[in-house]
Amino acid sequence: MSALPGSAEGTAVTGLDSSAVEVHGDLPPLTETTRAECREIMARYPVPRSALLPMLHLVQSVQGYVSPEGVALCAQELGLTKAEVGAVATFYTMFKRRPTGRHLVSVCTNTLCAVLGGQKIYDEVAAELGVHHDETTADGAITLEHAECLAACDYAPVVTVDYEFYDQQDVAAALELVAALRRGERPAPTRGAPLTDFLGVSRQLAGFSQHADAAAAQSAVDGPSAGVPTLRGVRLAAERGETAPPMAAGPPETAVFGEEPPETAVSGEEPPDTAVPGEGGGTPGAQAADAEVAAASNPAERSGAEQNHPDRPEPAGREAADRDAPAPDADGQAQSGSGTSVQREV
Ligand code: FES
Repeated sequence: MSALPGSAEGTAVTGLDSSAVEVHGDLPPLTETTRAECREIMARYPVPRSALLPMLHLVQSVQGYVSPEGVALCAQELGLTKAEVGAVATFYTMFKRRPTGRHLVSVCTNTLCAVLGGQKIYDEVAAELGVHHDETTADGAITLEHAECLAACDYAPVVTVDYEFYDQQDVAAALELVAALRRGERPAPTRGAPLTDFLGVSRQLAGFSQHADAAAAQSAVDGPSAGVPTLRGVRLAAERGETAPPMAAGPPETAVFGEEPPETAVSGEEPPDTAVPGEGGGTPGAQAADAEVAAASNPAERSGAEQNHPDRPEPAGREAADRDAPAPDADGQAQSGSGTSVQREV
């Protein structure tokens, strides 16, 4: 399938979907129960309009997409215009503009999955189902879409059904998956909760349980989670005795609009005796790293910048020379160019 400008595929690639929201007269009604649940969601937030996204998932869980009626209900409850609600609903690809099939099958065609076979999987599944991106099979079983990274690159190529993961797929596995879905089966995802359906998972995303009883809800929580690829970095760190740097006790010193910025080194002043990441350094590289640390706007950014700082103390069990040593090839021979120690062992 080619991603021609204006085609459904092109729309998905660019994210610029200007297609109209469809109107259907045979939808399940949005009832007073739906309205009451909207208000329940709104009550969870200090500012009611913060509830808009889960409210859109809720109306989608009833009608299979965000219909004009669903937009109107959200607007009415939140005191927004329909244009404001529509602007949000049409921005996010998880909100659909036409009725979705019983299952939403998403095939990742982003770079890593694509080079490992994701594009081939998408093409073969689309041909088998006879639909293009964002279209639904005639039996109403499956809506197909291709997705731009499903946040599981370590399991590429990845397919999700109703946002549940089917890892490390190939064409044969994906074709069997969609065939089973069309037969009314619910194959177990590789990780996560058992498969339900698109309406159910939309209700879950609205913040309500989609499960009939507590046991079913518990089995969803107890589903398999992190697998070997996800944990590989943790395992390597444990083998090396490496730990994450401690978090700063308080919030980082950052400039706040309208306030004086924190004190920084001034050109011409003596550098401090001991270089500490983020507190001034001698070499141009250290100074650039200092600037990155100082510019960090949150603890995670600061931690990352400190990790890359040339004056960073080495963790226990690791020599400073390790960091800049050339990476060996598969035979253990040193290569030119840099590489982290983790890269060398993975
Ligand atoms: S590239 Fe496919 S999950 Fe990230």
